Amino acid sequence: MPTIKEILNTMEYGPAPESQKEAQAWLEQRGRAFGLFIDNAWTEAGELFASNNPADGSKLADLTQATSADVDRAVAAARAAQPGWQALGGHGRAKVLYAIARLMQKHARLFAVLETLDNGKTIRETRDIDLPLVARHFYYHAGWAQLQAEEFSDYRPVGVVGQIVPWNFPLLMLAWKIAPALAAGNTIVFKPAEFTSLTAMLFADICVQAGVPAGVVNIVTGDGRVGEAIVKHEGIDKLAFTGSTEVGRIIRQATAGSGKKLSLELGGKSPFIVFEDADLDAAVEGLVDSIWFNQGQVCCAGSRLLVQESVEKKFLAKLRARMETLTLGSPLDKSMDIGALVDPVQKQRIEGLVQSARDEGCEVYQPACELPANGSWFPPTLITGASTSASVAQAEIFGPVLVAMSFRTPPEAVQLANNTVYGLASCVWTENISLALDVAPQIKAGVVWINTANQFDAACGFGGYRESGYGREGGREGMYEYLTALSEDARPAAPVLEAPAKAAKAAAKGGDPFAIDRTAKLYIGGKQARPDGAYSRAIHGADGKFLAEVGEGNRKDIRNAVEAAHKAGGWTKATSHNRAQVLYYIAENLAARGEEFAARIAAMTGSKNAEKEVQASIERLFYYAAWADKYDGLAHQPPMHGITVALNEPLGVIGIVCPNEAPLLGFISLVAPAIALGNRVVVVPSEAHPLSATDLYQVFDTSDLPGGVVNIVTGSADELARTLATHADIDAIWRHDGSAEGCAEVERLSAGSLKRTWTGGAKGRDWYSTAQAGGRAVLAHASQVKNIWIPYGV
Ligand code: NAI
Repeated sequence: MPTIKEILNTMEYGPAPESQKEAQAWLEQRGRAFGLFIDNAWTEAGELFASNNPADGSKLADLTQATSADVDRAVAAARAAQPGWQALGGHGRAKVLYAIARLMQKHARLFAVLETLDNGKTIRETRDIDLPLVARHFYYHAGWAQLQAEEFSDYRPVGVVGQIVPWNFPLLMLAWKIAPALAAGNTIVFKPAEFTSLTAMLFADICVQAGVPAGVVNIVTGDGRVGEAIVKHEGIDKLAFTGSTEVGRIIRQATAGSGKKLSLELGGKSPFIVFEDADLDAAVEGLVDSIWFNQGQVCCAGSRLLVQESVEKKFLAKLRARMETLTLGSPLDKSMDIGALVDPVQKQRIEGLVQSARDEGCEVYQPACELPANGSWFPPTLITGASTSASVAQAEIFGPVLVAMSFRTPPEAVQLANNTVYGLASCVWTENISLALDVAPQIKAGVVWINTANQFDAACGFGGYRESGYGREGGREGMYEYLTALSEDARPAAPVLEAPAKAAKAAAKGGDPFAIDRTAKLYIGGKQARPDGAYSRAIHGADGKFLAEVGEGNRKDIRNAVEAAHKAGGWTKATSHNRAQVLYYIAENLAARGEEFAARIAAMTGSKNAEKEVQASIERLFYYAAWADKYDGLAHQPPMHGITVALNEPLGVIGIVCPNEAPLLGFISLVAPAIALGNRVVVVPSEAHPLSATDLYQVFDTSDLPGGVVNIVTGSADELARTLATHADIDAIWRHDGSAEGCAEVERLSAGSLKRTWTGGAKGRDWYSTAQAGGRAVLAHASQVKNIWIPYGV
């Protein structure tokens, strides 16, 4: 039987170019030079830089490098327009979003050609993938705008949002950013990538036609300096960034302590797992879509092939044969599979990484294929024989380069899949649904595609775990990124502490039953542990009297606590029913000792409400026990034959720094939601009043809470928070002790491993209020959404 290649070789294909006439005419009409789009008007072109066609190096147009004064004007326009846009109401905004969707469809061909000219990706992709997804995104979010008052009644728009996108999906990323922001009632300062701004310029025209009011969408062009000006601008309330992990880290550091809401969609090194019973031919096609889609310049590209050893040889042979048939050439040619890389810089980067693989003795396979003389091109490439620590196995190559490895067993596949700092996406190929659904939840990634690859839909949130960033785009979860809970506005300006004078009197009246000399130890791995440094600190009551000593925890104690938390992974696997039972049991045992806890609170803080605080803590435990088995995910029905299951997964290990006010209720209000959803925690209790936490050791011991799920380290909040924020094995850090500088510091330090953060800043919180200290917003902080795509019947 002839091979596919032999058949193809016998067929005469002439070139099938898409016409670029309309796109070139549009550029001509615009004088091939663009100013900035601010307040629905174009500024005069300023300092210019060229935007080139990467397929042949020709210049398409000049763009303006915005100055910080331009960014100021764009932010001011957005600020002025925001109240009016919000006041337009859900239906008013829905109509505008719908008009944008319709206009995008109407001009889809022009957009697709312009995108291909500007970016170098094939017309097949811009026409059949990018543009339909763009229109879908605006339709979908027109829907959320319409339903906003009903579905998000406890929320308001964040305000003015800054959005910065990369060059790999210029228009699609624009839609992912702009549609939800507009739906929620925000106004926007948007920056496209410097290589690929032209479709954003055309989109500005669409905004005017669709009736977007002046100032609602502002588009500024330029390089990273413009991005930096947006990031640092005080008039911006939220930042949404897609791009490299490196810049993501810079943005996290730059926004620390600013109170700006932040979502980051960063890099990836996504595994593509092929089990021995997979439909190997289908998996090869999936791989083509996974790593050679958009020349591999895709954050969720399946760039690491993990194939089961028993079929490795066979699969790689099929893959190499398929690589031979991939067509590479003019992106405007409708029959091309692979287009041009975005810029020569990108080509150099890829060449460097492939050379490093050669130097390390890997085998590099590239099919014979002729590269066009001009422009930036790279052939499809397969690397075998790389070690797991090789640069090509760890770094995001962002090019058409696949690194293949083998595994023997499913656990080994999972271990290899997770052997990366990233966690954006993954593919699992097997005909065994039981195996697929067993493996999918074990992979640390925001998206898992089963027997499919690179599927996207506006209804299904997209975003990463670990250093692939945080926040989701699409779905209900994506809307929350552009909304602020009204309860946040109701928070007190500062933590509300008991007035000392009154407090002292109250405590003196009640006496002090705990004025005995004893040192409370730390609580690590379910056991009381002496602090490593053998130091302790004295805790005094509201009346100034000595109450007890607590251990002075240090870096080593935190390390031990984190290790214990990691060992308690069984808690994550436990059923939610089981976790709920433990929380109820803790509540029961706390209630049994309620008087003792109330007396302790009164002695520490002088509170007259100590009994009320204990009762509220018991109720909060019931509250999160109730949620433990009710914070369910969703089943989406995207336009494919199948379902997408959205799971609310725990983050892993969370470091928590508790408030000083309400020392018991504050502690419970943070620890209970975290553990209810399957996280393990390392908690620094109130620095001033830690004894309510140390008294809980016996309660935990008698409540069937497995050792290591809750670890408690007393001591200096600042020092311990610093250690938690820099610890590589902690997934999230929460700080709520009212220290503005302390919160800023943990946010800055969290950038190292891109931990999720939830900080209270200088403001207080009414810990008694379920609106402020409960609800889905808190549960969302304790979890991350994973979307598992399960096509069937195909
Ligand atoms: P980048 O992260 O530098 O650029 C993305 C966007 O951020 C652009 O609009 C850029 O102008 C802007 N930017 C750059 N520096 C900034 C700063 N300090 N503050 C605010 N905004 C800033 O990505 P770049 O340089 O285009 O690509 C480099 C590598 O990053 C790629 O080879 C690839 O590995 C990775 N990358 C990953 C992407 C993803 O979607 N995960 C997208 C683009 C790049």
